Amino acid sequence: MTSRRNPSRRQSEGVEAPKLEFGGTTPYDAYVGSSTLAHFKETMTDDPGEYMFLVMSQVMELYFRLIAFEWRTAQRFLREDNLSEALVALRRSRDTWTALNASWVTFRWMTPPDFNAFREALGEASGFQSFLYRHLEFLLGFKDAALLRPHKKVAGDNYAELVAAFEAPCLYDDVLAYLSRHDHDVPDSVLQRDTTTSYESDEGVEDLWVALYERTGPTDPERQLGEVLTDIAQEFSDWRYWHLTSVRRAMGAKAGTGGSAGLGWLERSMQRQAFPELWSARTRM
Ligand code: HEM
Repeated sequence: MTSRRNPSRRQSEGVEAPKLEFGGTTPYDAYVGSSTLAHFKETMTDDPGEYMFLVMSQVMELYFRLIAFEWRTAQRFLREDNLSEALVALRRSRDTWTALNASWVTFRWMTPPDFNAFREALGEASGFQSFLYRHLEFLLGFKDAALLRPHKKVAGDNYAELVAAFEAPCLYDDVLAYLSRHDHDVPDSVLQRDTTTSYESDEGVEDLWVALYERTGPTDPERQLGEVLTDIAQEFSDWRYWHLTSVRRAMGAKAGTGGSAGLGWLERSMQRQAFPELWSARTRM
């Protein structure tokens, strides 16, 4: 067995020991920013459960940011007609979302008495006010100008980024523009739609997906585009379902800290479907 305590012995065996001395902080910390993350934000109470609630909320925020980055990358490649690279970014985002959804298990322990131990300290803070989540919804094609309002005074250029995402084409707009440039029949009304409104299902786009799936096999890149978008829509629904179940476990049907009716409001807002024709077209295949 290699000794951990004797670096000279490991070197003599031809196994280099990791470097232990650095002039400043470690290059790892300089790259990852772990010393900043470690003291990023303190809890509001001494309740031991609150730390998990805070850190896992931050972890999810980071996942939201990463997924938005991947989707903007995919949009850029689609605009350059580079489907292969767009697919790489979309698949990374799908797998990131699978990992994000797995983090919901960390909330299972939380019963209403556990949540009540620190809930009051949250004041009016609610995930509803997450601008990174809203950014994702805008990229998915769910647009509502009223939902920009809470973020007007958020620090940095976050509000400007959110407004830009609200006004710009969503991911699906870029997918349909790509398909239209590659000999698929996308109605003009869809290509020229007002991108500050939510994407609405269109019969012509449904026809397009039916024809594309019936004409192609599983290895066809455009069919794979349809499938990875379907995976993403499914991951998004799964996130919302996990959230709903976690809310039900931790606070039942009480009103939310963000001022909504809580469970009932979340159930209603869950009914929206990303990339709707990729689902409706399946009935006709
Ligand atoms: C068990 C813990 C949680 C509870 C009890 C809870 C509760 C709620 C409630 C009641 C709402 C409705 C809005 C309102 O507050 O009135 C809401 C919305 C929301 N929460 Fe949570 N939440 C939890 C964990 C999280 C986490 C970890 C995140 C991730 C950052 C999150 C993100 C969101 C988002 C994005 C919305 C808005 C959804 C939409 O607009 O459709 N929540 N939450």
